[in-house]
Amino acid sequence: MRWKGVIENYWKYLPVNKKTPVVTLLEGNTPLIEAKNISKYLCSGRVYSANRSSNLDHHNFKIYLKYEGLNPTGSFKDRGMTLAISKAKEEGFKAVICASTGNTSASAAAYAARAGLKCIVLIPKGSTALGKLSQALIHGAQVIAVNGNFDQALEVVREITEKYPVALVNSINPYRIEGQKTASFEICDVLGRAPDFQVMPVGNAGNITAYWKGYKEYKKVGKIKNLPGMCGFQASGAAPIVKGHPIKNPRTVATAIKIGNPASWKFAKQARDESGGLIDTVTDAEIIRAYKLLATLEGVFAEPASAASIAGLIKLCKKGYFAIARHDDREGCIKSSNCLIVVCILTGHGLKDPDRAIASVKAPIVVEPEIDKVMKVIKI
Ligand code: F0G
Repeated sequence: MRWKGVIENYWKYLPVNKKTPVVTLLEGNTPLIEAKNISKYLCSGRVYSANRSSNLDHHNFKIYLKYEGLNPTGSFKDRGMTLAISKAKEEGFKAVICASTGNTSASAAAYAARAGLKCIVLIPKGSTALGKLSQALIHGAQVIAVNGNFDQALEVVREITEKYPVALVNSINPYRIEGQKTASFEICDVLGRAPDFQVMPVGNAGNITAYWKGYKEYKKVGKIKNLPGMCGFQASGAAPIVKGHPIKNPRTVATAIKIGNPASWKFAKQARDESGGLIDTVTDAEIIRAYKLLATLEGVFAEPASAASIAGLIKLCKKGYFAIARHDDREGCIKSSNCLIVVCILTGHGLKDPDRAIASVKAPIVVEPEIDKVMKVIKI
């Protein structure tokens, strides 16, 4: 069947009606890829021994990657943006605005272009990855770089939308959350159940809020029996939720989650506590290691913020977290399916931030165009 985008597909779970002008780029329906090599790597004993002691091996420790980088603009933001822009249009707005570390601006610019709406984006100067900036610009958004960080840009945007008739399309717009919750529906539709755990990056905290809402709604209508433990990860230099206070000057290589005062802070804590999960930190070094590991072991290229999921997964494995969870047998589900399922959310495509990729590896060797010279380098 032809995929028609998240609004058409999950119509009955979303605040839309027959009159809503659906603005879609056919977002959603992203692959849930089994990461067998990462599972083997984690269970090999190289990473940790706690798994072995609890009989977790790569046969019963299944890891899946929800590859949100394959959305139309290369990030999960499209799920929320299709709804936010459709509703802005329905409500008669002529312009939309957002603050962004990059992906929201790329998505808003694309969907606004399609809807024929003016789009204004405020980005922190010097902190937005090249791919994202190029997207916002090519889609014709008015891009304003502010001499400050994301949190300050969001403050200004909030003020503007209180005073002027411009729709705010950051994730404090409830339609964004509604759209983004469809990712948890898709995961459950594919697995035939909810995962035991979900691991994901946390920035402004809208996405963890959305996933948790989605899982709870699917449970309520009887589509799933269990709920996953929600495990969120912040970069250690930008970890306000973990530290318990706003961070004035957040720092991290994962620019997408360089946020010091998340708008959905309260809801992220709620997701963590209600689900019996956690929110923890990963260092930049751990993020870059995971970023390269994912690309080389699984052939999946995700941006650094997304690799925080994998860095978090590794950190939890090192602690034996899942082994303990298996022992606890969360709501009997692990026993019934006889394996532990962890879904890692890869929120954005690696091509968003080509500078970081190039800075993380060795530069290519330059040789003369002669077989001998090339073979000398290849060494086979
Ligand atoms: N991963 C990526 C690739 C992101 O772009 C973001 C957020 C997150 C994770 C965190 O999601 O904010 O819902 O907790 N990017 C926003 C933006 C802030 O402006 O593009 P969150």
